[in-house]
Amino acid sequence: MENSSPIVIGCDHAGFALKELIKDYLTAMNCAVSDCGTYNDGSVDYPDFAAQVARKISSGQYLRGILICGTGIGMSMAANRFPAVRAALCNDLFSAIMSRRHNNANILVMGGRVIGPELAKEIVRAWIETPFEGGRHQSRIDKMSCMGT
Ligand code: RB5
Repeated sequence: MENSSPIVIGCDHAGFALKELIKDYLTAMNCAVSDCGTYNDGSVDYPDFAAQVARKISSGQYLRGILICGTGIGMSMAANRFPAVRAALCNDLFSAIMSRRHNNANILVMGGRVIGPELAKEIVRAWIETPFEGGRHQSRIDKMSCMGT
């Protein structure tokens, strides 16, 4: 994990506690983290924070991001509206690994009201460490990049 690229992270109130924990987990592993908020558990709107993180991925400023809300559903819906964003909702380990191997996911989304801290840490570690397989999976991703235009 020492050589992983910096991570941009964001959450809403329902993801705040887990975001703080994951931020500490990444920092302890020498992974640089840029925190876009929210910074407390007061009620906020998840699209505002999804947009902050997704914009930084879409522009190429960061290669990897993490978003956390209550279920992960709203954050993934919002983030995937941005060009070149491939946000994957992964509340289990297998999905996290496959989202990297096959989908080259650049944003990991989790639900702070769905999974516990230990599973979330395992998911984050696996997601960061698993490489994209490329090949036939790249051409499938290429097909998505021009969809709807
Ligand atoms: C907030 O109550 C909740 O709706 C939000 O965190 C998220 O789960 C939406 O998808």
